[in-house]
Amino acid sequence: MTNTFLNPVTTQTWSNGRHLVRCVKAIQETWDVRTFCFMADQPMLFFFKPGQFVTLELEIDGQLVMRSYTISSSPSLPYSFSITIKRVPGGQVSNWLHDNLKEGDVIPVHGPVGNFNAIDFPADKVLFLSGGVGITPVMSMARWFFDTNANVDMVFVHSARTPKDIIYHRELRHMASRIANFKLHLVCERYDIGEAWSGYRGYLNQPMLELIAPDFLEREIFCCGPTPYMNAVKRLLEANGFDMRHYHEEAFGATPPEVGEEVREHAAEAARDGGLTDADLREVTFSGTGKSIRVAPGETVHTAAARLGLHIPKACGMGICGTCRVLKTAGEVEMEHNGGITDEDLAEGYILSCCSVPKGDVVIDY
Ligand code: FES
Repeated sequence: MTNTFLNPVTTQTWSNGRHLVRCVKAIQETWDVRTFCFMADQPMLFFFKPGQFVTLELEIDGQLVMRSYTISSSPSLPYSFSITIKRVPGGQVSNWLHDNLKEGDVIPVHGPVGNFNAIDFPADKVLFLSGGVGITPVMSMARWFFDTNANVDMVFVHSARTPKDIIYHRELRHMASRIANFKLHLVCERYDIGEAWSGYRGYLNQPMLELIAPDFLEREIFCCGPTPYMNAVKRLLEANGFDMRHYHEEAFGATPPEVGEEVREHAAEAARDGGLTDADLREVTFSGTGKSIRVAPGETVHTAAARLGLHIPKACGMGICGTCRVLKTAGEVEMEHNGGITDEDLAEGYILSCCSVPKGDVVIDY
């Protein structure tokens, strides 16, 4: 696509759902981290809340695979969006993307969704804490505040293994050199012999945090990184009496995706074996296909569809990614989601089928 196609006045905007996007750029950030940049073939403005994520729908070895990645770019540059991916030993999807996704490829994406974002928790002073490739959502937030000249005092603390693993290193330094309200602190676990390093060394700890941000107790904190990193940060904050209502973390990968589904399946099976009466069952009707089924209490809308041979796309299975979103046109459900649906979608009647249990008879437009 060339820029002659772009018209800022008539360009459509993105909304939560499934979209085809084309990879237009692949940038090697560090030796094992690459950014993939996407645009739509029809000019599209990719608006989202900085910190949110998308779910890629990929076909790997003939299998449909869905995987969620936070957006690393900022909606202040809305004609494209980027995700930044690190190669992981044994990581099926991330390695496949590194080895196969190239400029010109078209893939479906779902989203954007996610509660971990800088818009829903406005603050005058923020502290970004990131570890490794967990930098992506907080980088999106920082880029957004930087580009929009937001009156937000930012302290950005990033931890990496070694100096050569620091993602967006030059851009972070550039931002810190341009505005007074962006303070950058880099922490490296170690550095190699002969490698110059003037930043912090080791792991983020109490004395370091006190030096970096003496007022950290007053800041809105956004944290993303490996689970042990986030746990260490939480312990540190709790030990200091931090009001955890002002602490936000990206929970990707923290919980095995299928656990919730399995628990519900077992509950439903137990209920079925426990001699249910007809009155206990709920009727789930899929009006788009004219199919319906009676299910036991505890079974999800997604399970009901699967029993009928209807395959609603599903990725995380725990209400994070928004992939399994369907429109409910009648009845009530109990939905235990984890941020995979927007308030606007809820108001329009959408539900996440993987984590919605009918409270009575329901009708789904599918
Ligand atoms: S599959 Fe991710 S929200 Fe349902």
